[in-house]
Amino acid sequence: MDKLKKEKIVYVGMSADLIHPGHLNVINHARSLGDVIVGLLTDKAIASYKRLPFLTYEQRKVIMENLKGVIEVIPQDTLDYVPNLRKIKPDYVVHGDDWKEGTQKETRQRVIEALKEWGGELVELPYTKGISSTMLHEKIHEIGTTPEIRMKRLKRLLEVKPILRIMEAHNGLTGLIVDNLKIKDEKGIKEFDGMWLSSLTDSTAKGKPDIECVDLTSRLSTVNDIMEVTTKPIIFDGDTGGIPEHFVFGVKTMERMGVSAVIIEDKIGLKKNSLFGTDVEQTQDSIDSFCHKISVGKKAQVTDDFMIIARIESLILKKGMADALKRAEAYIAAGADGIMIHSREKDPTEVLEFCREYKKFKKIVPLVAVPSSYNQIYEKELMEAGVNIVIYANHLLRSAYPAMVNTAKSILLNERAHECESACMSIKEILTLIPGGQ
Ligand code: SPV
Ligand code: MG
Repeated sequence: MDKLKKEKIVYVGMSADLIHPGHLNVINHARSLGDVIVGLLTDKAIASYKRLPFLTYEQRKVIMENLKGVIEVIPQDTLDYVPNLRKIKPDYVVHGDDWKEGTQKETRQRVIEALKEWGGELVELPYTKGISSTMLHEKIHEIGTTPEIRMKRLKRLLEVKPILRIMEAHNGLTGLIVDNLKIKDEKGIKEFDGMWLSSLTDSTAKGKPDIECVDLTSRLSTVNDIMEVTTKPIIFDGDTGGIPEHFVFGVKTMERMGVSAVIIEDKIGLKKNSLFGTDVEQTQDSIDSFCHKISVGKKAQVTDDFMIIARIESLILKKGMADALKRAEAYIAAGADGIMIHSREKDPTEVLEFCREYKKFKKIVPLVAVPSSYNQIYEKELMEAGVNIVIYANHLLRSAYPAMVNTAKSILLNERAHECESACMSIKEILTLIPGGQ
């Protein structure tokens, strides 16, 4: 009888990131029904509906292979079990009963339908209370991260997500918003993938113009403030990067701190913000000189994980599409790990044209877009055009400033603070916003 039982095949789909008794409960029960095949969700499958797992696929695979009763671990590339189930045709699928509601509801239904095709059975176990991977993830988040883990995370995300959503942060508080904000809908949990250390918002927050007058020491002090309270990857706006001889030191420092990428723009002389376009005098660097800067930067970094992304200003400076494309090819050849194409047009036509031509290159690297002026475009459209990173470059500061001015005006106007109260968070809320103050 027992022998017969063991010939049955049991399929268990799992992320198995931080193994806890709940996982073992499922595996143990599955083992009592037959030989267990684990469909281990790949990083890509997990990132399609929630955060990137803490452990890599290979690390998770080794753990699962060594659990008693598991005869094989195979990749499950999608949240949907059906492709693997049709291949294996298991007698049983075992899962916790927590997926009856929420994002996995539909997945569950599809499993039930597929199992009917060969008479398989879904076995659901009561959800283990008091512990979950979400809880463990929150605990790890509270502990913080290391420079190395944070730095590597950008490349890991680029490997598994079709497009990364990066939001501007200019101090610890805005960093916390980007790190912690989550929105849940029927497709899963939406959140930002990392932070953009904008020169515009960092300078503006300090009451200074965006002309590289806030020096690197000060900019990195902002990075440090943000790093102290966050865990997500950071893309640093490196302006022009300075002269090559200085840039190499910046690269080493950022890499040591755990910044994931620096974006440098191909301009020289007194840098002005790109959104001024040709309204102010701005000079573009020569291709050779900027390629030299990229290559000395690449040579200076110590690990393989830090990225130097080259930002092309040709469209901003009205130098034409051909110039932008020529530069992209040259910068990639010089070692750039990514290309940022910038535009200040009101519609995305020229950026999309660049993307179409870019796709034809023999060698491409991740492509970055900053839709500040052409803001009608959806992430999905950028993704379909081949953009890998979308940066919302200045929106937290741009929305905070008018709110602050309105409050200040209201107090001046009314000669008391009563009228602006409804536009403010409560005293209780601000006292408890940052944990650890009590
Ligand atoms: C920044 O945010 O500082 C940028 C992007 O460099 S832009 O302001 O559009 O030039
Ligand atoms: Mg900038």
